[in-house]
Amino acid sequence: MKLQLAVLPGDGIGPEVTAQAVAVLDAVAARFEHTFYYTYADVGAVAIDNHGDPLPPETLQVCLDADAILFGAIGHPRFDNDPSAPVRPEQGLLRLRKSLGLFANIRPVAAFPGLDHLSPLRPERLQGVDMVIFRELTGGIYFGEKGKTDDTAFDNCTYNRTEIERIAHLAFASAAGRRGKLTLVDKANVLETSRLWRKVVTELSAQYPEVTLDWMYVDNAAMQLIQQPASFDVVLTENMFGDILSDEASVITGSLGMLPSASIGEKTALYEPIHGSYPQAAGKDIANPLAAILSAAMLLEDARLTEEAACVREAVRASLEASVATADLHPEKVSRCSEVGHWITSHILQHVPA
Ligand code: IPM
Ligand code: MG
Repeated sequence: MKLQLAVLPGDGIGPEVTAQAVAVLDAVAARFEHTFYYTYADVGAVAIDNHGDPLPPETLQVCLDADAILFGAIGHPRFDNDPSAPVRPEQGLLRLRKSLGLFANIRPVAAFPGLDHLSPLRPERLQGVDMVIFRELTGGIYFGEKGKTDDTAFDNCTYNRTEIERIAHLAFASAAGRRGKLTLVDKANVLETSRLWRKVVTELSAQYPEVTLDWMYVDNAAMQLIQQPASFDVVLTENMFGDILSDEASVITGSLGMLPSASIGEKTALYEPIHGSYPQAAGKDIANPLAAILSAAMLLEDARLTEEAACVREAVRASLEASVATADLHPEKVSRCSEVGHWITSHILQHVPA
């Protein structure tokens, strides 16, 4: 298979972890006789520096022309405490999501064997944690009308039926192929938008008799994620609740540096590690590349390269078993970001017959 991939390394540790994901994809291409073409483009703070725009038109075009996007990270501390900054790196990612119609952000969160000591939760609470969060990504308060005067500001939250239905279908289908449980997280006791989500999702549930739907207020969900994380199967929620809860869910397994995500929708899908730009570690070759590598595995899976995706996941598993890992996972015996990537690449080259 030939795949045209847009590579957007972005900011902070983005470039170094993405380089390892590309090396792994190259090993897969070599062993399974595929050709992957890569076109690199700037996004985020680096694009502001180079082009004065966090999403230059060339970058968007590269993405539109690609079969899939491998994304690193976005964000730079020099913008974080400057509310008056005229452009911000994050705007690049938000515009990219909107321009490509990437309405569903999918984040699988599962406990990794042997890593439960890294979790802030007691080991018995981690038993059986295996959930997928479906976060709506192109609507709600992120994209509603905004405004400000000197001492007033507002951000509107709007959703319509179509926006809710299209992601709800994906979440129901996912639940049907898993443990058959879908939890809609909202704030229907307060918000009109949440009441619309409840109505629409409950109506759709008739089409998925094999899925049990339940509803949970977001404040309660924030608690339940800590108290009984294993009780969740598929979680469906709107943009901002999903932003917050998916970060919360990602740390309960103690493996933030290992969690991938996919953003899918109308045009080219985007695959990105969820850990963000981690500026303190940038350029030091210490960041964990596993989330980026596992994001590449999600990309392969969605390209129907199932065996290839499994081979990448197996190589990741083997690296952990061999204790080849960065400091966040293995403070006793530390490997560098590039060493972990190299080990996984070599493992694939050695274990898959040419
Ligand atoms: C995420 C990030 C982004 C978001 C930021 C960088 C705009 O936190 O992907 O979760 O809030 O969606
Ligand atoms: Mg976030």
